[in-house]
Parts: sequence; C-alpha cells; structure tokens
Amino acid sequence: MTDQLTVIVLAAGGGTRMKSKTPKVLHRVAGRSMVGHVLGAVSALEPRGVVVVVGHQRELVGPHVSETMPAAVLAVQEEQLGTGHAVRVALEALGSGPQGTVLIAYGDTPLLEGETLRGFVDFHTGAGAAVSILSGLVDDPHGYGRVVRDPAGAVRAIVEEKDATDEQRAITEINSGILAFDAGFLVDAVARIDNANAKGEYYLTDAIGLAREAGLSVAAQPIDDVWQTEGANDRAQLAALGAEMNRRIVTRWMRDGVTVMDPATTWIEADVELAPDVTILPGVQLLGATKVDEDAVIGPDSTLQDCEIGAGARVVRTHGQLAVIGADANVGPFSYLRPGTQLAASGKIGAFVETKNAVIGEGAKVPHLSYVGDAEIGEGTNIGAGTIFANYDGVDKHRTKVGRHARTGSNNTFVAPVEIGDGASTAGGTVVRHDVPAGALAVSAGQQRNLPGWAQARRSGTAQARAAAEAGGADHGELSENGPGLGSDPGDRAES
Ligand code: UD1
Ligand code: CA
Repeated sequence: MTDQLTVIVLAAGGGTRMKSKTPKVLHRVAGRSMVGHVLGAVSALEPRGVVVVVGHQRELVGPHVSETMPAAVLAVQEEQLGTGHAVRVALEALGSGPQGTVLIAYGDTPLLEGETLRGFVDFHTGAGAAVSILSGLVDDPHGYGRVVRDPAGAVRAIVEEKDATDEQRAITEINSGILAFDAGFLVDAVARIDNANAKGEYYLTDAIGLAREAGLSVAAQPIDDVWQTEGANDRAQLAALGAEMNRRIVTRWMRDGVTVMDPATTWIEADVELAPDVTILPGVQLLGATKVDEDAVIGPDSTLQDCEIGAGARVVRTHGQLAVIGADANVGPFSYLRPGTQLAASGKIGAFVETKNAVIGEGAKVPHLSYVGDAEIGEGTNIGAGTIFANYDGVDKHRTKVGRHARTGSNNTFVAPVEIGDGASTAGGTVVRHDVPAGALAVSAGQQRNLPGWAQARRSGTAQARAAAEAGGADHGELSENGPGLGSDPGDRAES
C-alpha cells in the first residue's frame, strides 16, 4: 500500500454527447465499464484512499463504483461547477486532510494503465513539484487545456481552450487531465480557485498558475501513448477506444503464445484468460470471464461469454454462454450452448444442437439436431440424431436422466421427468414417457405395416408409380389381394 497517495476520480459530468440513458462512465469497453477500467488502473497503485466524485445519474454510477471498488469513498457533487469544484467536494468527503500526493484522474479514459500512473506519480515526487501535469503532444489540440511554458521551458499555466489567445491555441502540448498534487498545496489551492473565466467554471487547472505565483515548482511529463488519456465523449470515440483496446489485448495474448489467425476480426474482452498454444480462428468473440485452456481451437465464427474451454477442445461456429467444455471435447458447428451446459472430456455437442442445464458425461455424444434441456447424460452414451429432451410441460421444467453407455435412437422425445438406465437402448422414433430400465430396449412406435403396390394403385401415371413398377414392386393385383379399404393417400388408411 502506498500510504502517501490518495486518488480522486472525477465522474460527475453528464456525457451529453453520448445521447444515452446510460451514464457515460458506465458505457462498456472490452467488457468493463469505462470507470471500471480507470479504477483497475488506480488500484494497481494501491493508494491509501480513493474518492470518486459522482453527480449526474449518481444513482447508477455510485452503486457501480461501490461494487467495483468497495473501499472507494463516493463524493456527491450536486451541480457540476467545474473540475476545481469537483476536487473540493472530494476533499470534503475525505474528511481528514490527505497526506503526501493526491492524483487526479477522470472516469472516462478506459485505456489508462496502472504502470503509467505509477511512473507519473514517481515523476511527480522525484521532481519535488507542488503540482505535476501528465501532458500530451497531439496533432489536434482542439478542446484541451494548453500547457503554457515560459521561454526557459518551465510550465507557467494551463489555459483552457475558451480562454486561450490565438497564440496559445497553437500550442500542441495539452493537459491530459491527469494531475498530481502535493496534498497540502491542493487543499490550499482549491479553496482559492474562482470561476472568473469564459465558462464560469471552477477550473482545477488554475492551480498551476497559483503554484507559480506562490513560487512553487510545476512539472509536466508528456505521455508518449496518448490513447491512455483519451476519453470517450460520443459513440464514435467509444468505438475507436474499444477497437484500440481490443488491438492491445489481442496483441498481448499473441505475445503470450496464443495464435490469432485474424486479429482484425477477433474480439477478446479484458477479463478473458487464455493459455499458451490456444488457437483462435477468424470471427471469434471471447467475452466476460471466458477461460480457454492450452491447445484448444476456437472458431471460426464463435461467441463465447463466461465459458470455460478445456485443453485441446475444439469449438466451431458456436454461440455459448456460461458453459463448461471439457478437455478434448468437440462442439459445433452451429451449436448453441446455454447456461448450465457442462460437457465432460472428449464429449461432443454437434451440429444444430441446443443445450441448457445439461450435464453431459465423459465421451458422451449429442451429435446432431437436438435440444438437450435440464438433462444429465452419463459417460459414453450416444444420443440419436433429432432428439428432443421435452423438459417443459407448459407449467414446470423437469429433468431427464440418461445413464452410462446408453444408445438412444434417432428422432426420440424424452418426456421429462424420465430416466433411461445404464446401457439401455431406445428405438428410432421412440417417445419415452416412462422410465427405461438398465439394459432394456424401449420401443413406443406401432408395428410398421407395408401395403404393397400402393403407389401403382393410388398414384398411377406418376413418376413415383413408374419407378415403383420398374423396381419390380407389387402391382395392382397384389394390392387388391391385400384387401379393400385403402384410402387415396397414406393419411387415411384403414386397418386391413
Ligand atoms: C478538462 C481540463 C483540460 C483538459 C481536459 C482533458 C479543466 C478546467 N480542464 O477539460 O485542461 O485538457 O479536461 O480531457 O480541468 N467533472 C466533474 N465535475 C465537474 C466538471 C467535470 O466531475 O464539475 C469531470 C467530468 O465528468 C470529466 C472530467 O471531470 O470526467 C473533465 O471534465 P470536462 O468538463 O470534460 O473538462 P474539459 O472541458 O474537457
Ligand atoms: Ca472532456
């Protein structure tokens, strides 16, 4: 813990240009809120105290901040009268005066890194300055406060865009907004800052001029990586920051040994964990707390949210949420894994299969065209193509249990609650309404009857009838021997 450091995060502003019912700092980048990213960077400093200034939509921002960082103090700024006023409100909320250094950051700079803040705080203390500015050299300084230096290069002031002379507007060194203060000086300065300026706001940046007037030193450290201090004011900037953060995350994973075939179509959120030798094919989104173990291959075209994928597993064209896939298992293509899906090692969830609350044992397979809901399937069992686990009776959900090494036929319906025993079989087309004992074969469909010559009798003159005749199928005569009562189509046959 850094005893001598307090951090104030300003997050009371409105974010009007987002045109959103969601407060600006709660908009998400790479799966975390913008303020969540900033708090992550701040906590890497292990400061003694963190104060977050909330105002606009604080009923949403406050609880989110408390959930993300329970130790943070919330300071309420009822009216947004400027950054200087916001810091005054923060200091009041802190109660006892801060010691050492106070670092100021904004809640809308998601790319900010803890290491950058650490370096800047070290720079500030090393310089022995009353206040230090994390500045940036930009091509387009429009909208930022300009860092005004005297001919000797010493920082004299920060002048806001609206208050700047033409000459000052041409300055390309800007105030990123991140400032470090000697605590005693800050307390003194915010009490003296006024709002006699073009915007009628209390500018925190006026503290720089106050320091110089008092003969105190001011330092500025330009940051090379200006993305880190960039805020998102509208949706276009939000997307740009999101793309840049993704590029950084994907690059980091490649450096850590993950193969990414197409970084441009690969989206990996901040809290995802990947092992070395994972391979990611084009069009993959790994979201939330998704974890992928070594040698697994994900994609192409898959979205996994909060999923765990075991070593060596293969997941192709799959949409998954809160699913756990075992080592060497196979999923896809076109599988839909809903919450509570657990596929054990070497199992298979195949094409056009939807699963939900389904625990599928080691080596068990659901290869084709099935719905598996509220189910347990034992190890080594094979579920036939086109099987529906009918879990819902219109009122309640019920469970189906299929034992170990069972073989169920194609086009089955398991009407839950029902159990199929270990080593049991079911015939094709079976509707299982009653438990099937271990080792039994369940058959529910009626006996098949063939009506010879039906095509020639009832579809005479058609290609179907000719094909039947050419194949030597029974003719008319044989049909009449089979008795009367055949209707004109298969739907209205009478019993013979
Ligand atoms: C501020 C700086 C400017 C800097 C720029 C960097 C001042 C006077 N100006 O200008 O030098 O180049 O940031 O982006 O500090 N906030 C509050 N309460 C308020 C006012 C603002 O919490 O009363 C918060 C906002 O939510 C935002 C941050 O402080 O996160 C900056 O406020 P904003 O009004 O955007 O300042 P700028 O005019 O951009
Ligand atoms: Ca701003």
